[in-house]
Amino acid sequence: MKYAHIVGWGSYLPERVLTNDDIAEMVETSDEWIYTRTGIRERRIADTEETTATLAFEAAARALAVADMHPSQIELIIVATSTPEYNFPSTACQVQDLLGATAAGAFDLSAACSGFVYGLSMAHNAIATESVRNALVIGAETMSRVLDWNDRGTCILFGDGAGAVVLKRSDVPGGVLSAVLRSDGSGGDVLNLPAVYHSPLPMLADYSPNGQKNTISMNGRQVFRFATQVISSSILDALRRAGLTINDVALIVPHQANTRIIETAAKRLKISQDKFFLNVDRVGNTSAASIPLALCEAVEQGRLKPDDNIVFVGFGGGLTWASAVIKWNVTPPEVSRLDRELQRTRYLMARGRSKLRRWGRRWGAILGGSPTPDARMRDAQKPRHHEHPEE
Ligand code: COA
Repeated sequence: MKYAHIVGWGSYLPERVLTNDDIAEMVETSDEWIYTRTGIRERRIADTEETTATLAFEAAARALAVADMHPSQIELIIVATSTPEYNFPSTACQVQDLLGATAAGAFDLSAACSGFVYGLSMAHNAIATESVRNALVIGAETMSRVLDWNDRGTCILFGDGAGAVVLKRSDVPGGVLSAVLRSDGSGGDVLNLPAVYHSPLPMLADYSPNGQKNTISMNGRQVFRFATQVISSSILDALRRAGLTINDVALIVPHQANTRIIETAAKRLKISQDKFFLNVDRVGNTSAASIPLALCEAVEQGRLKPDDNIVFVGFGGGLTWASAVIKWNVTPPEVSRLDRELQRTRYLMARGRSKLRRWGRRWGAILGGSPTPDARMRDAQKPRHHEHPEE
């Protein structure tokens, strides 16, 4: 039996801050309404140059630095996201390229706000069954791009960001002790984000407010009820599987959706709310990114000690929910400025190598007489004259 230990963690938040007061200039709401209902004060918004993949890359690079690992050692990259730039290439493949992770398989995972815990469980299984030695699990989102900024019921809640962990195979017991994944597709209409851009399907129009096609729609009250019901049972399930009780837990890092949801869950579990780590006030709901983002902040604040048992719990669209129990047996190594500089150079070189491979493919196509991707694109855009065989 092999164990999957978290040996690296990293997060990235875009610089631009959007406060509740800023949102109150866009829709009829107020800082007071938003804060008392959700606990959110502000969130970060990605710059026009930033994408889900670039946020994911930044978080992953930081996680690798903490793990003191070279990207070529990573054998699996899972990106949990609901806001990929493309269906394919996956965000994970874009991150693989940006990192220069030359030995990694890469795929995206869609389980909305539970995605990070789902990804952690997949990576843990791959390591425990010895199919890979190391894996990067990333949660990354640009939620600001899929919000209807006229819908005050949803646009107040979400933010952008990314978080990542590196999992490493070990013979030492610990790391991911258990994970429980659940779903209920009958609740798909309670919280959803249509995927097909410019779709002619009339049914999509019903899903989205103001006729916009791919923005989040949500029944807030039903989501609230669902979340408060599943959090406690999911945590207790995962603890049971790990052979632990709630009293053995040092810290719960929940999906950061809403302070009131966590208050209710703490009451159900009959534990102090302090056992839950919260940073939703400063980042809002960053969907799949929220748990690793909060984890990084908890580590920074010194909330975790070696041998602590911690619990991740995610819940969201699908409907999906999931919990994982982790034995935290790591102390982060010191990463010097020189190391950081070396890492930056390594990623610049990875970009250079990626460009060379692209050029190689292009010139290979030209020399081989087949059309280049650009020529194919131009060809595809030419008006077509359908010739009838009889004509
Ligand atoms: N500012 C001011 N008023 C608002 C508002 C806003 N941003 N959003 C909704 N309202 C109004 C509604 O229009 C409604 O007005 P009405 O009574 O005149 O019709 C009133 O507030 C109550 O609306 P309702 O949707 O019932 O509010 P609520 O108390 O349920 O709070 C949420 C709304 C979204 C804060 C709450 O339902 C919630 O937190 N749900 C969970 C959402 C979540 O976490 N989703 C992600 C999970 S992964």
